[in-house]
Amino acid sequence: MARLFSHEDIVELAKNSGVPVINGLTDLLHPCQALADIYTIKKNFKRLKGLKLVYLGDGNNNVTHSLMLICSKLGIDMIVSCPKNYFPDMDIAKQSLENCKKSGCDFKVVTVPKEAAKDADILYTDSWVSMGEESEKAERIRAFAPYQLDSELLKLAKRNCVVMHCLPAHRGYEIKSEVMDGKHSVIFDQAENRLHTEKGILALLLK
Ligand code: NVA
Repeated sequence: MARLFSHEDIVELAKNSGVPVINGLTDLLHPCQALADIYTIKKNFKRLKGLKLVYLGDGNNNVTHSLMLICSKLGIDMIVSCPKNYFPDMDIAKQSLENCKKSGCDFKVVTVPKEAAKDADILYTDSWVSMGEESEKAERIRAFAPYQLDSELLKLAKRNCVVMHCLPAHRGYEIKSEVMDGKHSVIFDQAENRLHTEKGILALLLK
């Protein structure tokens, strides 16, 4: 397993490796996180198809991209709500739309968070400043401030919605403590589920 900054590096590592290489996170994708997220969602709702996942904040982010790919494969409607300068990667968006056609779900990007959060089953956010982006901190905080996950946004979602975050979280930035510690949060179950799904990946690869 490798956690690297540049996605090209893990592709090169995998090409030259005699054993499977697990992507532990790159600047483009975070597939292990997405697997744990789906497991967490399935445990909560007992189904996947037809659910609506709303991602708020940085659209051009490894967690967002992996969620786009997995949700579109599994029939989960996904809305990314982010500022114009932080839209998701175009190739991944195209791939997600292709997947949506096959599985019969929707994927879209909207800039207005209140529009996106309406009737959500899952509200998801991640750090506004990912690893390697520390020098852009001030401008990112300014750009993402309207996308903060607070109790006002939560009110717009479904009554039994769940709140997710891949951690580490920054309270008072992408998520308010009232939401992180509130009754809709499954954030710490989600973190535990990383362990179980990683065991699953290893079991599969060692077969
Ligand atoms: N988007 C975050 C995920 C951390 C697990 C980052 O890359 O820093």
